[in-house]
Amino acid sequence: SNYQFIIKDVVGEKKNVGMITLNRPKALNALNKGLMSELGQALTEFDADNTVGAIVITGSEKAFAAGADIKEMQGNTYSDCILGNFLADWTKVAQTRKPTIAAVNGYALGGGCELAMMCDIIYAGDKARMGQPEINIGTIPGAGGTQRLTRAIGKSKAMEMCLTGNMITAEEAEKSGLVSKIFPADKLVGEAIKLAEKISAQSPLTVALCKESVNVAYESTLSEGLRFERRYFHATFGTKDQKEGMLAFIEKRAPNFTSE
Ligand code: HXC
Repeated sequence: SNYQFIIKDVVGEKKNVGMITLNRPKALNALNKGLMSELGQALTEFDADNTVGAIVITGSEKAFAAGADIKEMQGNTYSDCILGNFLADWTKVAQTRKPTIAAVNGYALGGGCELAMMCDIIYAGDKARMGQPEINIGTIPGAGGTQRLTRAIGKSKAMEMCLTGNMITAEEAEKSGLVSKIFPADKLVGEAIKLAEKISAQSPLTVALCKESVNVAYESTLSEGLRFERRYFHATFGTKDQKEGMLAFIEKRAPNFTSE
């Protein structure tokens, strides 16, 4: 394909995992307009591809992404930001309907940390460093760093990170719940692909309902979220996949899901 800043691939034993590798190594995968637009396009293509069940996004061993491209945005005026709706197109990552897994090796800073947090699950390599260093360059996080980080690790830790720019280690990120698991750097991407393969083996229909339901916990009050969850739970009883899944359990065999 004709991508300049990313590598797009389909991987996994059954070729059911969409793989996106951020590929601006000389700039530590700084996220410029071109890269973010290609990333959005690749995610749109994977969402539309019935053979793909889940998506892995990764960078290099040195950097997942060292942030938004400082050289590109340095000269932006306030007016440019407002009239150009700067960063609005980043939302595509969080709006991807298929499950997304960030495999973070090395630096995930600023927009890089925010990009990882837009994914559904984060796995980290043992040398990963995550942070929101915007305060050091006279700005604040602009793509969810003050919001998603606070929901992920709580106010005190998020406040400390955003106000100091201090990075946290992979161990700290795991302990605080920002990432689900840590692996040796060279095993990370393989483990993320295995996770994506496991998700891809589930019913795509049920996966879509489940992902949307977890995300409601992020975006609403607990009571609204619980009500929404219960209705979606009820809705699964209208599917053949629920009948098949439960029957297969009772009959002690593997389920055969059909998305009906
Ligand atoms: C543009 C960047 C960059 C960035 C690194 N580079 N980060 N270019 N934007 N965010 C470039 C460097 O300029 C350099 O280019 C090359 O990548 C290698 O980086 P070095 O600094 O030489 O590497 P190193 O000494 O190993 O230090 C690594 C680092 C440091 C600690 C990650 O690069 C760093 O602090 N980067 C900036 C991190 C940051 O502040 N991120 C937040 C950005 S603001 P040359 O041409 O000199 O070789 C942000 C706003 C978010 O993300 C708002 C919402 C999206």
